[in-house]
Amino acid sequence: MNKVFIATSIDGYIADSEGGIDWLNAIPNPNNDDMGYHDFMNSIDALIMGRITFETVCSFDIEWPYQKPVFVLSNSLKSIPKEYEGKVFLVQGGLKDVVDEVKKKGYNNLYIDGGKTIQSFLKEDLIDEMTISIIPIVLGNGIPLFGALSKSLKFECISSKIYLNKIVQNVFSRSKD
Ligand SMILES: NC(=O)c1ccc[n+]([C@@H]2O[C@H](COP(=O)([O-])OP(=O)(O)OC[C@H]3O[C@@H](n4cnc5c(N)ncnc54)[C@H](OP(=O)(O)O)[C@@H]3O)[C@@H](O)[C@H]2O)c1
Repeated sequence: MNKVFIATSIDGYIADSEGGIDWLNAIPNPNNDDMGYHDFMNSIDALIMGRITFETVCSFDIEWPYQKPVFVLSNSLKSIPKEYEGKVFLVQGGLKDVVDEVKKKGYNNLYIDGGKTIQSFLKEDLIDEMTISIIPIVLGNGIPLFGALSKSLKFECISSKIYLNKIVQNVFSRSKD
């Protein structure tokens, strides 16, 4: 199963035009509600992430936040920086082959992250479930979650919750009938 867990603006952006994501945390969250993130992370075996998302996470002044292996898609990176060895692995090639390669290692439930990355997975109909938390802001510009597809993909909404009285989180499951 390939799953997405992401936050967007009302108009569907995952970062502003400078790549900024501060607006994601603009809603006061006094009890640090993780909006299902911990449970979601427990449901996956590994992540496949775009190079830009990987570099964004590396730029945060925090400890490496993932306990699961992270496979980074990149055609430009030649190697993974030493400090991430054993935790982060470079992958390249067609997405179906990449997913097969990762699943062969025993990682069946995958968290797919990054805008262009999710768009490429959707182009090949490789996303089974999407958890999308909508932050109540219209950014007007930025990095979009979705892009053009040659054919539409039907999903059904299997859950809808409101967090912090302000953030709607919908879970969509691919319906193939
Ligand atoms: N709102 C949220 O919850 C959320 C979540 C995640 C990320 N973000 C934000 O989104 C931004 C990053 O997203 P993004 O759309 O710019 O990029 P991305 O999907 O993270 O990374 C794209 C890069 O992945 C590599 N890649 C290799 N093969 C690919 C393939 N088949 N399909 C797609 N990518 C492939 C390419 O790297 P090379 O150029 O090296 O080949 C490409 O430039 C950051 O600002 C991040 O902070 C927000």
